[in-house]
Amino acid sequence: EIPSMQKKIVLLGDSSVGKSSLVFKFVKDQFFENQEPTIGASFLTKTVPQNSHEVKLQIWDTAGQERYESLAPMYYRSASGALVVYDINDKQTFKKAKFWIKELISNGENGVIIFLVANKSDLEHNVDSVEASKYCEENGLFYFETSAKTGHNVVEVFTSMASQFEYV
Ligand code: GTP
Ligand code: MG
Repeated sequence: EIPSMQKKIVLLGDSSVGKSSLVFKFVKDQFFENQEPTIGASFLTKTVPQNSHEVKLQIWDTAGQERYESLAPMYYRSASGALVVYDINDKQTFKKAKFWIKELISNGENGVIIFLVANKSDLEHNVDSVEASKYCEENGLFYFETSAKTGHNVVEVFTSMASQFEYV
């Protein structure tokens, strides 16, 4: 029997950046062109094997629409990890990602592991990758470029998150 631990992670970011699409691609290997906006939040789990143990990720996928913004602290306050997602095609969503990172740093769990995720890498890049990775370096975050549509880096981003949690 492999030892197992549970870790709560949260996805934050503007509406329509592809948070739910990333989670569905990872958990079910499915992608929908007409993915509906999330209402409130949704919850999925997936177990990720490591060398000596397995990590059961409890994934909270929040709703990015403005009207749900006040709910977010309920989901990120007790999260051990956060994927802050933006749309690489849409500059405005990068600003929002920086807002969520500030929120997480001031109100999140102590030592929360933050990944900045530039999704929709299959589209034109309107946010500069160098600027985004420099921002991450300065703030001690990890940077990933993903596409829920093609699957690029989707498994990698979640398994890297799982590997950040030390088994004790
Ligand atoms: P909220 O639930 O409102 O916060 O949105 P969300 O961040 O969960 O976005 P969602 O996953 O619903 O995706 C929004 C739209 O973007 C859908 O039409 C998806 O098909 C599309 N989409 C998601 N990821 C990608 C991607 O990597 N590439 C492309 N081209 N489209 C994507
Ligand atoms: Mg959603």
